[in-house]
Amino acid sequence: MSEYVTITIDDREVKARTGQKLLWAALENDIYIPHLCAIKAEKRPNASCRLCFVEIEGLSDPVTSCSRTVKEGMVVTTRSPRVDRLVKTAFELLLSDHDLKCSECPAHRNCALQTIAKKRGLKLRQKRFKPVIREFELDDSPQEFAFNRNRCVLCGQCIWADREEAKIGAIGFTGRGITRVVTTFQDVPLAESICTQCTLCVDACPVGALYYKDSAK
Ligand code: SF4
Ligand code: SF4
Ligand code: FES
Repeated sequence: MSEYVTITIDDREVKARTGQKLLWAALENDIYIPHLCAIKAEKRPNASCRLCFVEIEGLSDPVTSCSRTVKEGMVVTTRSPRVDRLVKTAFELLLSDHDLKCSECPAHRNCALQTIAKKRGLKLRQKRFKPVIREFELDDSPQEFAFNRNRCVLCGQCIWADREEAKIGAIGFTGRGITRVVTTFQDVPLAESICTQCTLCVDACPVGALYYKDSAK
């Protein structure tokens, strides 16, 4: 099997590694596709944020590029009215329960939501969906970092880092739908849990939910 395949993205012919996910092939060739939950998707795609839609020639509906493997001759379009509508809807849904106080946030100017908004010309506010106000208490029990769950976008990257990199299993998702949240076992503060405060989860967080106390992320 050849090590590379040739695909076309937005009329540009690019090389991608055989078996690579399409999102990463695009990003490595400086072609932007919005993404949030797939920061480490090459290792473990979870396709939950629904931001990375593209059109692929021959398929009737847009697909998530983080979960689609490249194939020789694949022809991909990253922007179309349908893709733009889907991305805008997914983005606005994310914002509907997000505590949007950017100027007070440690991730301000270094935030995946801000990047997506900027790159796709989207506004960092929405009126289409009923806002959900989340009022979780700040967990600032760890020595170096804090966890503000009102800013969490449920991307799962911290859980991945905790389980796969740190090999601890201190945090996980509980609840469904609007009650879904990242917690420790029995929802105790991080410092009272089995968390070793290694900070790998903080480094994995693409927004200002997990952040270092002494600096912007
Ligand atoms: S996480 Fe990003 S979008 Fe949310 S408040 Fe912080 S800077 Fe703003
Ligand atoms: S805390 Fe950060 S990394 Fe973890 S799920 Fe929320 S947004 Fe993602
Ligand atoms: S990056 Fe593909 S669904 Fe989140």
